[in-house]
Amino acid sequence: MRRWIDERIDIASIRETLVDRKVPGGLTWWHTLGSATLAVFTVQVVTGIVLGMYYAPSPDHAYDSIRYLEHNVMSGALLRGVHHWGASAMVVLVLAHMIRVFSMGAYKYPRELNWVLGVVLLFIVLGFSFTGYLLPWDQKAYWATQVGTNIAGTAPLIGGALVKLLRGGTQLGAATLTRFYALHVLLFPVLLGFFALLHLVQVIRQGIAPRTAVLDAEPPPRTDDPAYASYYHDRYARSKRAGVRFWPDIIAKDLVVATLVIVVLVLLAHFSGAGLEAPADPTDTTYVPLPEWYFLPFFQLLKLVPGSLESVVAVGVPAALVLVLLALPFFDRRSMRSLRHRPAAAITMGVTLAGVALLLGAAFRSEPPTAVATEVGRPLSSIERAGRAMYKARNCGACHALGDQKPDTSADTPNAPDLTEVGLRHSAAWMHSFMEDPARFHPNSKMPSVGPPKLTHEEIEEITRYLASLRGPNWATAKQEFYDTFPEPVKRTERP
Ligand code: HEC
Repeated sequence: MRRWIDERIDIASIRETLVDRKVPGGLTWWHTLGSATLAVFTVQVVTGIVLGMYYAPSPDHAYDSIRYLEHNVMSGALLRGVHHWGASAMVVLVLAHMIRVFSMGAYKYPRELNWVLGVVLLFIVLGFSFTGYLLPWDQKAYWATQVGTNIAGTAPLIGGALVKLLRGGTQLGAATLTRFYALHVLLFPVLLGFFALLHLVQVIRQGIAPRTAVLDAEPPPRTDDPAYASYYHDRYARSKRAGVRFWPDIIAKDLVVATLVIVVLVLLAHFSGAGLEAPADPTDTTYVPLPEWYFLPFFQLLKLVPGSLESVVAVGVPAALVLVLLALPFFDRRSMRSLRHRPAAAITMGVTLAGVALLLGAAFRSEPPTAVATEVGRPLSSIERAGRAMYKARNCGACHALGDQKPDTSADTPNAPDLTEVGLRHSAAWMHSFMEDPARFHPNSKMPSVGPPKLTHEEIEEITRYLASLRGPNWATAKQEFYDTFPEPVKRTERP
């Protein structure tokens, strides 16, 4: 059986290239960051597929489908939390991996192209994050994407076209959501899978970069020196002969770190889920949008520059970053790899990291406190907030109990129903009609009518939306069951 399979797919040579090979010794724990990123990507694919089974990519249903997943699907909140934190972990691990490769000079000869592939992978990961952020279609998602696409719009010449392309129109709406969804679940996974595979194949073919000391022993000064290639291959072959086995020496370390990362993700998801704000409300211009935390340094930088320079920085900084990262291995051809022999590189890296840390710190300090009213299990939307204010202004609480607020029994008030769970008993349409003219429903109703001219239809609708959101203390599990009874329709006078 074994021979039969072996003759057909040649397991021996697969073993030889993937498992039985030798790699240079003395690799650090920092060398596990790349494989840890791959492990988290696998987690993202698996959790993403399950999320995709519940998600409905339309503005009418996206929010509710996420809410359903959070409250009604077993482990749904945990699953979404892992996917949420996994996205952050991808960015952190990719950046840490890049810092490791940079500080060990591993992007130098002969790994220049693999560095370029890595930069491409970084931007695909950021693309994943940007498109994924919109999908829950809550306030945070909507307004952060509004700001993000606005930034793209400040690009010279192509700005307008770019915004249209991203949004699928001039406004952020249904076309944007389906567009981002398609990018997030179709295009980016294929791109990331493809480039990650190329990246890995290169790592396997070229071998892992050895310790810096191995290659820093009196090399020709530059990597484009004709003598450098033979120097490199000679040193590499020697360190490989004296090295360790890929399996189990390297793989075991990788597995330890990957397991650790996944455990941390599950713990984070368990103790702090992905969160869901009020449904997206395009009319609520008071909302202060915040991007995902790893975009915060960039946002903070934009806040610091004067308005006239903002569009230059908004487009210039990311563009410069891409160019510098792509050009780095072709521009820096000195052969020394250890940071100790590269003072300019060490200082550049130190200053960049310190600057980003300072910006991130400043962004966290200036973050506005988010007022979260959880009386309905989630923050209220702006229409619902307006409705709650109107409810107070019209003194509905004089007769009705609502949550902790008890009716005013000292006055001569009728025995009115408790509204704590009214959203479970009545549809919004019914409540609107009822409040407009209660006597039409119950001829002896003690409930005062609020129909025009007392309140406009917009105002009644605001109260209605507020009341419809009230699901009582068991909002998470309570099921709606409407008892809407409508009066006999007004008889139309027969026309001849
Ligand atoms: C004078 C007392 C009184 C005030 C003030 C009052 N209501 Fe009522 N409301 C009632 C009574 C009594 C009922 C019971 C139904 C009936 O008699 O028709 C009722 C019924 C309702 C219902 C239907 C509840 C159910 O479960 O059937 C809603 C919704 C409602 N009121 C909303 C409001 C709102 C909103 C306000 C403020 C604009 C308000 N009410 C002010 C007395 C009052």
